[in-house]
Amino acid sequence: MTYPEITENETAKAYEKAAQLVIHNVKEFTEVFPDSSSVNQFYKPSENVEWTTGFWTGEIWLAYEQTKDEQLRKAAEIEVDSFLDRIIKKIDVNHHDMGFLYSLSCVAAYKLTGSEKGKKAAVMAADNLMERFQEKGQFFQAWGQLGAKDNYRLIIDCLLNMPLLFWASEATGNPVYKEKAEAHIKTAMKYVIRPDHSTYHTYFFDPETGEPVKGVTHQGYRDGSAWARGQAWGIYGSALSYRRLRDPEYLDIFCKLTDYFLEHLPSDLVPYWDFDFDDGSTEPRDSSASAIAVCGMLEMAKYLPEEKAQYYSSMAKRLLLALVNRCAVQSPEESNGLLLHGTYAKSSPYNTCPNLGVDECNTWGDYFYFEALTRATKDWNPYW
Ligand code: GLY
Repeated sequence: MTYPEITENETAKAYEKAAQLVIHNVKEFTEVFPDSSSVNQFYKPSENVEWTTGFWTGEIWLAYEQTKDEQLRKAAEIEVDSFLDRIIKKIDVNHHDMGFLYSLSCVAAYKLTGSEKGKKAAVMAADNLMERFQEKGQFFQAWGQLGAKDNYRLIIDCLLNMPLLFWASEATGNPVYKEKAEAHIKTAMKYVIRPDHSTYHTYFFDPETGEPVKGVTHQGYRDGSAWARGQAWGIYGSALSYRRLRDPEYLDIFCKLTDYFLEHLPSDLVPYWDFDFDDGSTEPRDSSASAIAVCGMLEMAKYLPEEKAQYYSSMAKRLLLALVNRCAVQSPEESNGLLLHGTYAKSSPYNTCPNLGVDECNTWGDYFYFEALTRATKDWNPYW
């Protein structure tokens, strides 16, 4: 790959720009949240619903860490109140995405400020997630009615929900959260990774026996393709799993998943939404997949042997420069997000998704882009 690594100076400028944009956008989004994805590059306001609101609070915490601006802290604390209220009232928490929601908002609040409200909300969210563990099959059921045959599946994205459970074991002294997280990770790794190291988005099990049934896509182009964001969830998920469990198998899995991702990038290094598409395609990109993968590479570089650490850090810095040059929002007039050219969901003849947030900002793309810049700037203590 000929794309150069991002320099310290370029990183510093992009990091500063991201914080300025968050400081601007917090005026619009404190009592309300940005919707999951933008429309014509601008987010509409949303209540604290969906799986995506924690990313915005996470951005505020990242900007607070960087600037120590007390207005940011106050805004994030208002949102932590909203997350506590949400879990107490069980508003739209009937799914597995408690980690995305509560790690970046409430665990972050606890880690950065010692917030007891944050701790309480995050432990309640972990308890809520624990209810979704299926003994038959040993996994957390992603969506839908618990035990229902047509929803008896895990999805690769859930690897990012597991850090909440590792944290909950630490915070409460109860090892059961960690035990279930480890069981889920083992199951997911065993079934979602194909022999060529691409990944299934979702994997079904038999609710009667727990036996594996089949891998299918939800948001990818087709069942057998590699959905770019799913592959990225696998990359960062394996890095975060290694961080907690130190199982050498996850180092190996990380390298295989990341190599597949890197080998299937187009020449400008911003992935298409599915790796069925390559240079010359008119399909949209998913910049968020790249931002997630960069975070995974920078996390895993802490643990890999020197030569491999150097390789994946270098690749992460190339991908990050491509994001900064091709996708970064430059001014509040352009967008109220941080990262352009994401794709939430794209319909295909082989999936059941409607088009949603196609070639738009999405809140996780913004968050992981900012986290990637933070990681590239300093030795960062993850909220995960
Ligand atoms: N976790 C859902 C998604 O990546 O769209």
